[in-house]
Amino acid sequence: MPISIDQQEKWMDSIIDTTGNNKRFIICDNENIPVGMVGLYNINWIHRTCEIGLYIGNKSAQGRGYGKESCRLIEQFAKEYLNLRKIKLNVVLDNEAATRMWKFLGYEEVGKFRDERFIKGEYKDLVLMEKFI
Ligand SMILES: CC(C)(COP(=O)(O)OP(=O)(O)OC[C@H]1O[C@@H](n2cnc3c(N)ncnc32)[C@H](O)[C@@H]1OP(=O)(O)O)[C@@H](O)C(=O)NCCC(=O)NCCS
Repeated sequence: MPISIDQQEKWMDSIIDTTGNNKRFIICDNENIPVGMVGLYNINWIHRTCEIGLYIGNKSAQGRGYGKESCRLIEQFAKEYLNLRKIKLNVVLDNEAATRMWKFLGYEEVGKFRDERFIKGEYKDLVLMEKFI
């Protein structure tokens, strides 16, 4: 979908606000070049849960360990600084790279929404995962 400049500006403002229930971080390589983003979303301070989101935007940076490393760091931040206890996520069923990574990091599948996402003309299942940190 095309995005207007106004919408883009609002999104940028929301991204840099780390005071609320979302904490987003930019992932940089060793030369400090941004390669992606990782964040904790919908933090619930009573139940001490949140969701995780991760994106390595630069294709040439994928498969080089940034995803795993940034998840480990943000999990440590969630546990030791925010005192959270569980992280949840959604992954589209056929996203093999992401599914393999989440399983490797100890996330367990707890359910599935069938035909939940419309992607490139097809409905895809959405897998729900969680990890106690
Ligand atoms: C999925 C994603 C976050 C992984 O990050 P990454 O930095 O590329 O992954 P890493 O190099 O840290 O590898 C972590 C693990 O992911 C899996 N993986 C990564 N790329 C893979 C690929 N092309 N095919 C299969 N598995 C892959 C592997 O299990 C890998 O561990 P291993 O190298 O020990 O086998 C990244 O590819 C990405 O941003 N994809 C697009 C957005 C997305 O799918 N986000 C997740 C939504 S839930």
